Amino acid sequence: MTNKIDHVAIIMDGNGRWAKGRGMPRLKGHEAGARAARKAVEAARERGIGYLTLYAFSSENWRRPKDEVEGLFTLLEGFIDREIDRLVESGVRLHTIGDLSKFPPGLSRKIALTAQKTEGNSGLHLTVALNYGGRNEIVRAVRRIMKDGLLPEAIDEDVLPRYLDTSFMPDPDLLIRTGGERRISNYLLWQLAYTEIYFSDILWPDFDESALDAAISWFSTRQRRFGMTPEQVEGDPLP
Ligand code: FPP
Repeated sequence: MTNKIDHVAIIMDGNGRWAKGRGMPRLKGHEAGARAARKAVEAARERGIGYLTLYAFSSENWRRPKDEVEGLFTLLEGFIDREIDRLVESGVRLHTIGDLSKFPPGLSRKIALTAQKTEGNSGLHLTVALNYGGRNEIVRAVRRIMKDGLLPEAIDEDVLPRYLDTSFMPDPDLLIRTGGERRISNYLLWQLAYTEIYFSDILWPDFDESALDAAISWFSTRQRRFGMTPEQVEGDPLP
């Protein structure tokens, strides 16, 4: 049995260690990470994946040294400047999730404009999580629900996700975390409820097409049960 894979989410971890291992400053690791992100977008597109969601800046990343935070912003701006034409041409639709109101205004304007330019495309949905935290996303959703004046009885598991930043996308089928750590780090907390999670020891800058293929082929061997018994999933009658 092979599983259909429509949405891949990635926690791109290990840039700092990749740089350290080469005696380079951490930002060089993030630069190499941005190149790996570009490759991942291309590879996802070629493999017909519908949604790719990349964790580029968490709401906790503000705790990093100021130089590193500013370096990441510059890198993101450069990525957009360099990639916009390619994204538009290759049919990619760019989205962001997270609280962009805390981002430098120039950068958030540029991101919004870029997203607008790709609106008419019909290919891969590329979502970049920026100043994103799963708990913060749920809190912002609850605030919006209350502002809309919904009654408690009107809120259920179909209504709440319509208020999340991710309302336009299906839940991830596969989450990949590189860099050897085995945790979710406040990423897509609501959305990962039934996602298959693949941990790779590869540092993100070294994550390439063959590493993506290894993750996809692991995914295809998983039996997704969504709370059912193996017999139900396999179509056997229940005793
Ligand atoms: C984690 O590595 C990575 C980040 C906090 C930033 C991710 C950003 C990029 C890959 C570049 C920009 C992305 C795009 C989409 C253009 P780490 O620094 O925590 O690594 P470490 O655990 O080895 O220290």
